[in-house]
Amino acid sequence: MLFLIKWFLGFLLGGDGGGKQLPPCPPGIPMIGNLVGMLMNRPTTKWIVRVMNDMKTDIACFRFGRVHVIAITSDEIAREVVKEKDSVFADRPDSYSAEYISCGYKGVVFDEYGERQMKMKKVMTSELMSTKALDLLRDVRNLESDNLLAYVLNLYEKGGLVNVRDIVCTHTHSVKMRLLFGRKHFKETTKDGSLGPMEKEHFDAIFKALDCFFSFYIADYYSLFRGWNVQGEEVVLREAVDIIAKYNKMIIDEKIGLWRKNCDANKNVPKDWLDILFTLKDDKGKPLLTPEEITHLSIDLDVVGIDNAVNVIEWTLAEMLNQREILEQAVEEIDRVVGKDRLVQESDVPKLNYVKACIRETLRLHPTNPFLVPHMARQDTTLAGYFVPKGSHILVSRPGIGRNPKTWDEPLIYKPERHLTGDEVMLTEPDMRLVSFGTGRRGCVGTKLGTYMIVTLLGRLLQGFDWTLPPKTGKVELVESKENLFMAKPLLACVEPRLDPNIGSGNNNFNSAVGEHMFDKVLTPSDVGKLNRLVIPKQHAENYFPLEDNQTGTVLDFEDRTGKM
Ligand code: HEM
Repeated sequence: MLFLIKWFLGFLLGGDGGGKQLPPCPPGIPMIGNLVGMLMNRPTTKWIVRVMNDMKTDIACFRFGRVHVIAITSDEIAREVVKEKDSVFADRPDSYSAEYISCGYKGVVFDEYGERQMKMKKVMTSELMSTKALDLLRDVRNLESDNLLAYVLNLYEKGGLVNVRDIVCTHTHSVKMRLLFGRKHFKETTKDGSLGPMEKEHFDAIFKALDCFFSFYIADYYSLFRGWNVQGEEVVLREAVDIIAKYNKMIIDEKIGLWRKNCDANKNVPKDWLDILFTLKDDKGKPLLTPEEITHLSIDLDVVGIDNAVNVIEWTLAEMLNQREILEQAVEEIDRVVGKDRLVQESDVPKLNYVKACIRETLRLHPTNPFLVPHMARQDTTLAGYFVPKGSHILVSRPGIGRNPKTWDEPLIYKPERHLTGDEVMLTEPDMRLVSFGTGRRGCVGTKLGTYMIVTLLGRLLQGFDWTLPPKTGKVELVESKENLFMAKPLLACVEPRLDPNIGSGNNNFNSAVGEHMFDKVLTPSDVGKLNRLVIPKQHAENYFPLEDNQTGTVLDFEDRTGKM
């Protein structure tokens, strides 16, 4: 009987460490631990760090039902997780959002560590992120960087006030679309370079799905509640993931059709990640991935990194607008390294150390997500000398580490100089003194691409425009949203072009309107204004419009600035 009672209590409580010392636990209620605190203090992500600050501890064990959730706010303990005991903590916990986003654990990011996950991750690392693939797709990234400047120029001509979050969302979504699908729009293009309604729906769905990820849903700890939509979030998540999958599948089906039509191998030269995924073969010469697997990977690729770029650029510009000397120093570096006759290129990234120091400082002080993607203990182990039972969820707090006064002097002050050591500044941080890309078996596969994207984007925005606060705005309110770590309000700023819009040529200029390099002569903004009919040759048109076999291109008619057709 005693044994049965002990077993039953053990089942409900998830064990107390069997006499071994768990990390310090905040007071909880028998059976359910800290579940009430978790449900009553929203967002739970911020409550966890608050509780740990009150307890003055860098490691704590929260008990949500039967699950031990170990939260960490120190770089030293984080190193133990992702470096010293990397193989022990290489799993990801099961959660309703992870399960749904990964279509039942068939992707990379949220999946259990094992053969299948490693196979998919290898495809990402060695095929999509290889130097060859990154080089192949450099032009499309450049094209979108040009488009961004053209888009901002457009906003300047309309009055000069820019919603930074909006332009970076537009840019990052467009880059992802081009890399993955070889085009920026699902169907119709837009005239001013903004997202169309379909891309907007797709983009919003990606952010909604990401929002659900750290929601601390009761069904993540009591799986019998899964499917009941107890907190209303399951429906939101399902709708979001279904929207992403619907659009991705639409393009994937279209591509399958095209690849079947062009069975001649020579015609099938990969132009984007999807093409690369379609061409992969196993040892027997059979396709390595099924269309279903490709759809799952495409969803993973949609959700990774996109929020980081948006958050980093917005906070960096906001901090710079409040401390103009930082902005001026970054612009001075760009002018010195790149000059004013061409735009920042990815090849400049190694030399833009001050710009990278600013980005690193943003990653430290204003990280995008509250935690690393959660890890899970694959066996009983220890952390900082405390017992950690098998199955414990490990939450490495990004703001907790980045703002830890034991690691950083004046942690709440934005000081890029602290990252200037004389060596090349890197955005990666294998020692976990701040959390950027993580490291180890579950580390980010997109470190190089992520670095290129963020540094080039910030570099071009600073190089192309003078940024000032809107009239009558003394300072930017550097306030975090109550729900997440983004700025509470989107950053608004005024821009003024600081370079001749005709600098560079061909695929390196920022007056390319919606950015397709298809003109013999570089068009100026005033040329674009005078256009009312544009003939687009087949090699460009086929990337954006469905063409019949016998069509040699397409013609676009649009209003000019005087309103005539
Ligand atoms: C732009 C900046 C980016 C940042 C700051 C970033 C950061 C991170 C972080 C912190 C993790 C979790 C590491 C861990 O759990 O220990 C991660 C995982 C991952 N990232 Fe990134 N990432 C970025 C861009 C990208 C891009 C562009 C891609 C690919 C297109 C990518 C692909 C992945 C994948 C696949 C994982 C999961 C790896 C695994 O679970 O094994 N990331 N990233």
